[in-house]
Amino acid sequence: MADETPSIDTLAVWGGETGRDFWERSTQLPLVASASFGYHDLEEWIDVSLGRKPGHIYSRNTNPTVAVFEEKVRLLEGAEAATSFATGMAAVSNTLFALLDPGARVVSVRDSYGGTTKVFTDFLPRLGGQATLCPTGDHEALEREIAQGCAMVYVESPTNPTIKVHDIARLARAAHAVGALLVVDNTTATPINTRPVTLGADLVLHSATKFLGGHEDAMGGVVCGPMALVQKIYHYREITGASLSPFPAYLLLRGLKTLAIRVRQQNSSALAVARFLEGHPAVASVGYPGLESHPAHDIAKRQMQGFGGMLCFTLKEGWPAVQRALPRLRYAHCAASLGGVQTFVGPPATTSHVECSAEERAALGIPEGLIRYSTGIEDPSDLISDLSHAIG
Ligand SMILES: Cc1ncc(COP(=O)(O)O)c(C=O)c1O
Repeated sequence: MADETPSIDTLAVWGGETGRDFWERSTQLPLVASASFGYHDLEEWIDVSLGRKPGHIYSRNTNPTVAVFEEKVRLLEGAEAATSFATGMAAVSNTLFALLDPGARVVSVRDSYGGTTKVFTDFLPRLGGQATLCPTGDHEALEREIAQGCAMVYVESPTNPTIKVHDIARLARAAHAVGALLVVDNTTATPINTRPVTLGADLVLHSATKFLGGHEDAMGGVVCGPMALVQKIYHYREITGASLSPFPAYLLLRGLKTLAIRVRQQNSSALAVARFLEGHPAVASVGYPGLESHPAHDIAKRQMQGFGGMLCFTLKEGWPAVQRALPRLRYAHCAASLGGVQTFVGPPATTSHVECSAEERAALGIPEGLIRYSTGIEDPSDLISDLSHAIG
């Protein structure tokens, strides 16, 4: 008899899919592309509608394919409950708007993903809220701001695009001391490398478009945490409507089956690429948590099982060198995404922070010459010779 708690590799493959009675004995989860679910028995219809019986009514609320996606991510993150969204930004904004009361204060950092920063700076204030953005990775500054009182602490780890690492257990202690929630965007680490809920975070969310799906063919988002909080977020989403559709859920589920092997390959390739870049004469700096030179290497060693597939670097000759190098890459899409089986590369000005002006990026501490590199599952020696040729 296998151990009661399966490993994360097994959960990625089987999580949410064991013991289910799929349609016509199919071994693979069907794509249930139905907007609604019919009932001849009106009593049963009412019971399902009111949650007294399991079942589905309308796919903006719940759907069988989408429910398995939520269950698999819930198991991978080790959380009590999960709910899903049409995109990662819907997961971010629905979480904030469902949980924050008017006038609430959020403490976060300057270089979260650009869309998230825009929610903090452009939309939260319109609802009377406020976000205080500390220097990224500065735990003392974060703790000082948190101690002054706030409703929520919000961080990514590693951050996009500067690949800084936040100490989740430390921030959870600081947040809980003032009765605040800690929300962690785990998109870049994935549960294979970090499980924020097990480190004390209240909620963990993802752009599932990235590593979870892994194939750049479906968009989605998901948030996991305690039932009471997830229920509130679910209720906000089912009414405001940014629900995940069955077809992307189906594609994301197919991608999730290989999450563990993809991410481990990306971890080891990213480390090899980072070490190569660190020794290259044209490279000014490299940011990768697996390098001893990374300012938060010790935190990363403590809280990460692997250092992730993402890194960033700058070239000594700055922006002109970036413009020359990127189009020369054969094995990287110059495109605004990350976490796929193919390598993706781009500067923040065209990727994570395209929504921000050059002045805003500078104020957020994001250099124009930075290159964000998301390692795919190609042979790392091909990636390195490709980079060598491009920046050489
Ligand atoms: C860390 C992070 N969070 C959230 C998002 C938003 O996700 P989506 O593009 O799926 O809306 C992104 C997108 O790049 C991201 O990198």
